[in-house]
Amino acid sequence: MTVEPFQKTVFPNLGPANLVGYNASTPGPTYYVPKGTESIIRVTNNGTLSSVVHLHGSYTHSPWDGWANDEIQPGQYKDYYYPNSQSARSIWFHDHAATHTSHDAYYGQGGMYIIYDPAEDALGLPRGQYDTVLALSDKIYQSSGDLWNPDGQNVNFYGDVIQVNEQPWPYFAVEPRKYRLRFFDMSLSRPYNLYFQDTNNKRITFQVIASDAGLFGGPVSTSDVTIAMGERYEIVIDFAAYAGQNITLKNGMGVQTSTTFANTDKVMRFMVGNTVTDKTNNGDVPSVLNPNIKYPKSRTTVDHTFDFDLASGGTWTINGVSFSDVNNRVLARPPQGSVELWELRYRGGPGVHPVHVHLVDFQIISRSGGSNRGVMPYETAGLKDIVLLEPGETVRVLAYYGPWNGVYMFHCHNLIHEDHSMMAVFNTTKLEG
Ligand code: C2O
Ligand code: CU
Repeated sequence: MTVEPFQKTVFPNLGPANLVGYNASTPGPTYYVPKGTESIIRVTNNGTLSSVVHLHGSYTHSPWDGWANDEIQPGQYKDYYYPNSQSARSIWFHDHAATHTSHDAYYGQGGMYIIYDPAEDALGLPRGQYDTVLALSDKIYQSSGDLWNPDGQNVNFYGDVIQVNEQPWPYFAVEPRKYRLRFFDMSLSRPYNLYFQDTNNKRITFQVIASDAGLFGGPVSTSDVTIAMGERYEIVIDFAAYAGQNITLKNGMGVQTSTTFANTDKVMRFMVGNTVTDKTNNGDVPSVLNPNIKYPKSRTTVDHTFDFDLASGGTWTINGVSFSDVNNRVLARPPQGSVELWELRYRGGPGVHPVHVHLVDFQIISRSGGSNRGVMPYETAGLKDIVLLEPGETVRVLAYYGPWNGVYMFHCHNLIHEDHSMMAVFNTTKLEG
């Protein structure tokens, strides 16, 4: 795979946008990898900035995990090794270079990586053309057709144009049957509350079937789902009752706040046709999807409390520490193979912190404070690698720190915060003897 500058005309009557993406596309290639088959990806950097690849949601050994200072300089390459033995899941790879991750992600360095398990096929979920990746992002364009550069932002970045798979407010012609939609939030600072609206402005109920660590124990019925930066949610929605209609995917979050522009309440539109070409894999979603989720052994003692705050001078810190503070940035040393309970807190400030812990899948135990929204059923129906922390909230997450030892990052996935430098380190310490 290459990191490659390219141009793409996004608005037909304007000039092209100058982008830098994997294999000169954005999103980059989607890899479909069978569970248990290892992979090596050689990444050559043909760009002008350094680049780091992180496969988000993979328990990669530390040397290939995308450490922010392990940069591939322009003209160099690095070979990344991935074990791919975790539960089947929809994960993604993106740039992770220290201080310019947000720039690189915004200009196109992101792509999807689907680990699939043949056992999943027996569930009869929609497949093939009825199983689609939908990657959300928000941008600002100049009148030339090129992107507006977000580099000067150190609080949050919110775009006025909502894109799905890098296309502004696209249409998707669908058939009147069930679809599996895999949502990724690739935005820098914008979370979404997604809901489907029919032509009578009524919301459509759908089933959430998977998140960061793959299939849920069973489906969760809902009429909206909140997805924050870096998170994944997969849903099954049935368009059968809407033949010949338009269904709009809307964003219920942040309307009438400064984070919202005239049209950021709209995401995309589904144009439902009248005929179904393939009636297979269109049955009810089974009530049991994955009976084998490996929840961590329970533990009630809090091992670490981490405060995610805006520090003075426009930096964002974890317990007062910045990633640039190399002597103090290791904040936890969970023994390899141990279970730890972490408490994550945000006293309040502008924007939200989706907290991401590398290496592990965690169980969300509780959320308190803030607007008292608590934990959503779809946040606990499976394991996660990101949890959304809104102002005033305290969240507890439980994880098994293994299987490998080594140093890993944990950070806010608001990429503006991450770059400024809300990122720290844990060392899954090897036990001697
Ligand atoms: Cu998706 Cu450390 O990131
Ligand atoms: Cu943050």
